Amino acid sequence: MHSPLLDDQLNIWHPYTNISKDNPLFLVDSASGGELTLSNGKKLIDGMSSWWAVIHGYNHPDLNQAAKSQIDKVSHVMFGSLTHEPAIKLAQNLLNLTSTNNQQDFDRVFFSDSGSVSVEVAIKMAIQYWFAQGHPEKSKLLTIRNGYHGDTFAAMSVTDPDNGMHSMFKGILAEQYFAEIPVYGSDIEWKDEYIHSIKTQIEKHHTTIAAVILEPLVQGAGGMKFYHPEYLRQIRQLCDEHNLLLIFDEIATGFGRTGSLFAYQAAQTIPDILCLGKALTGGYMTLAATLANKKVVSGIHADSKGGKAGGVLMHGPTFMANPLACAVANQSLELLKENQWQTQVKAIKHQMLTELSALSSNKLVEEVRVKGAIGVVEMKESVDFNWIVPRFVELGVWIRPFDKLIYIMPPYIIKPEQLSKLTQAIHQVISEMS
Ligand SMILES: Cc1ncc(COP(=O)(O)O)c(C=O)c1O
Repeated sequence: MHSPLLDDQLNIWHPYTNISKDNPLFLVDSASGGELTLSNGKKLIDGMSSWWAVIHGYNHPDLNQAAKSQIDKVSHVMFGSLTHEPAIKLAQNLLNLTSTNNQQDFDRVFFSDSGSVSVEVAIKMAIQYWFAQGHPEKSKLLTIRNGYHGDTFAAMSVTDPDNGMHSMFKGILAEQYFAEIPVYGSDIEWKDEYIHSIKTQIEKHHTTIAAVILEPLVQGAGGMKFYHPEYLRQIRQLCDEHNLLLIFDEIATGFGRTGSLFAYQAAQTIPDILCLGKALTGGYMTLAATLANKKVVSGIHADSKGGKAGGVLMHGPTFMANPLACAVANQSLELLKENQWQTQVKAIKHQMLTELSALSSNKLVEEVRVKGAIGVVEMKESVDFNWIVPRFVELGVWIRPFDKLIYIMPPYIIKPEQLSKLTQAIHQVISEMS
């Protein structure tokens, strides 16, 4: 009998997955709100928001309508020498959202196709900026261990070189500087010694560093680690003192996930360059943005008198600023502006704390931590992925752990009883592991 799953296994690569019979793979037929429906009719409460992205839930009528209206006008057009309303409106929306006291924190937006590419563009902006200032030697990046910034080559070079997913590419990737991560946890108190490692690196290497790049407040795929906002404030100061640009990668943390619209706003630390993606379109389609402040923009433009790049940013993907994606993103931002997300994220946080905290005394559990709509149960040992994912599916939930981390970051519209089903399933699998 024809089996689509077998066809899939024979023909398609999935992310970071070996093709084998034992690997869990499930066929999704449709999705709505906070629920996925498999082809066999089984319904799963979604604890993943499709990797942080689907914040308003699946099959949202307003987002559907935005896509339908736009597709009848134009679904794609090249962005070289042509432009369109959805992109113009989205850039304005993003610049307005990233304002402090009615002052724009950023000056210009570059649209690209994915988070990884937006990181590539941010790195390129930083290097081009210093090139234009007559400092081509400032071409390296400094970051902290346990980070994750994507799968393209420059993004991989600033992802953790040992613990990350790219250790086999060591020696091929550009060599960057890495500092130790600050002490992390849910409610750590700030100590000045936490800044020591990165401060030392800055003092030693600043003449060759273009920028520091960080995931602010929460390291995502590198370990779901939370750290103190004071770290970011002190790094901003160090960057200013030593002439370094500061890049924040808010591809995972952006659009409310940590409890503030952007993590940089909660930390009261404005970077020079900001990367956004994932939830930008409410998880509907692939779109990312790199925002740069006035200093970076005018610095790059200043190269027009004889610099090699002639004052233009040297990047331009085919599907740049795709109108469909921009139209859906504008609608997603409209939904965010209604401001329900704040109440929703607070309620999710409170419920996860109430329902997950008891697990911290379980002998298999290292730590339970919750920030905004991110709930993490860190186990002492790696979990058996091929057992746990199908077991979660049997229990009617979609939770996909990695390494020692069982974590959930549900859509903001999740109902309390749906969230309880997620947390109960986590209790259940851990009790079965015991
Ligand atoms: C912080 C961060 N940066 C960059 C990326 C890469 O984004 P994309 O998968 O859209 O290329 C991710 C993806 O998980 C991420 O979490």
